[in-house]
Amino acid sequence: MDKIIIEGPNILSGQINISGAKNSALPILASTILANGTCQLKQVPKVQDISTMIAMLAHMGVNAKLENNIVTTNENNQKGTTAPYEIVRKMRGSVCALGPLLTRYGEAHISLPGGCVIGTRPIDLHLKGLKALGASIQIEHGYVHASCKKLKGCRIFLGGNFGSSVLATDNIMMAATLAEGTTIISGAACEPEVVDLANFLIKMGAKITGAGSHNITIEGVSKLTGATHTIIPDRIEAGTFLIAGAMCGQNLTINNMIPEHLDALFDAFDRLGIKYKRHQSKVELSYSGDYTSACDITTLPYPGFATDLQAQIMTLLAVQPITSVITEKIFPDRFMHAAELDRMGAKINIDGGTAIITGQSNLSGAEVMASDLRASAALILAGLVAKGTTTINRVYHLDRGYENMVGKLASLGAKITRKS
Ligand code: UD1
Repeated sequence: MDKIIIEGPNILSGQINISGAKNSALPILASTILANGTCQLKQVPKVQDISTMIAMLAHMGVNAKLENNIVTTNENNQKGTTAPYEIVRKMRGSVCALGPLLTRYGEAHISLPGGCVIGTRPIDLHLKGLKALGASIQIEHGYVHASCKKLKGCRIFLGGNFGSSVLATDNIMMAATLAEGTTIISGAACEPEVVDLANFLIKMGAKITGAGSHNITIEGVSKLTGATHTIIPDRIEAGTFLIAGAMCGQNLTINNMIPEHLDALFDAFDRLGIKYKRHQSKVELSYSGDYTSACDITTLPYPGFATDLQAQIMTLLAVQPITSVITEKIFPDRFMHAAELDRMGAKINIDGGTAIITGQSNLSGAEVMASDLRASAALILAGLVAKGTTTINRVYHLDRGYENMVGKLASLGAKITRKS
């Protein structure tokens, strides 16, 4: 199994380009099940989750090829309606095939994703939405079996106990594109990735308004065609590099990003006293000394602070001379990285969904274990500033969602290598 080895401390300088957003590309790939015709998707990141999604689509008659960050799909004539356990267990995002399969073929059989290291991951909102559209749903032998004659549009509230759900919004929006009549999703997720999916569906011929707000209206149509689309830049990858720059950057420029997707992160930077220059599609920043203003963070649905950047900002806070509190409102158990950071000398106390970080300036390199995708990124950030050697195990988590992170950091001057 591969490891990442970092010799620290490091200074990062130069320019990098942000890749396309994995969390946009996944539902957009799932939506190609709906296409009568071929689709071309540009700026698709070459990461493991995308390969897993492409493998799942093959079970559904969609043959997708990824070459030079472009995915081209075939004309889909073959009906396949099952997402098997061996694929869904690798990637929870597979659940977003449910809506497209059901609305196009009248049935879908998707393995239940189960929990994961960041907590229980229910799909009750997905099922509630599909039932409201008229699907009948059975859960048997670890699979969701959904079937319907023709879905019928209606008004559906998709807010849950932890806010709105991104993939449930995606799933119901896709299902509603071919339903009879009008569907209104209230309490919809507003994430940029939902808007990107809506824009692609509109190019395929769907009638959707309101994506990006809490109310999305979908007028059903009888058929969707193939389409061409460029995936938006990955705001989580951009946020990770921005945090790296705030920790150890010197004249660092992050290109090909959409700064307004990261307003909550920039607000945290402002409160901490981090200096940066925001342009239309790039941001420049440098490490500007210890940050001494207290800054508490609460993760929330978009446009709030992204849970997918919580682990990375925790690393930054752990090496500042301040005490900070992070409250995790989306996945209250998502703190597995804290114990690994503590092994490098951080002082983090967890109490339920709250982390209290007593910052101090030095971390020391250690052998650590990545528990999930974003935790791996947080440990890499820690390794960049820690003194000595940091070895990060279980890097397959990183491969799920960051395109060539080791290569990008090395190009900025980091002493980072990957070894088998
Ligand atoms: C997506 C992202 C993930 C990100 C998360 C929150 C993808 C592929 N993944 O995951 O990286 O961390 O949004 O921004 O886009 N919930 C329910 N019932 C449901 C569904 C969700 O209670 O049926 C809860 C979840 O447990 C969580 C909250 O709602 O507490 C938000 O989860 P959700 O937005 O659904 O996350 P995903 O869409 O799975």
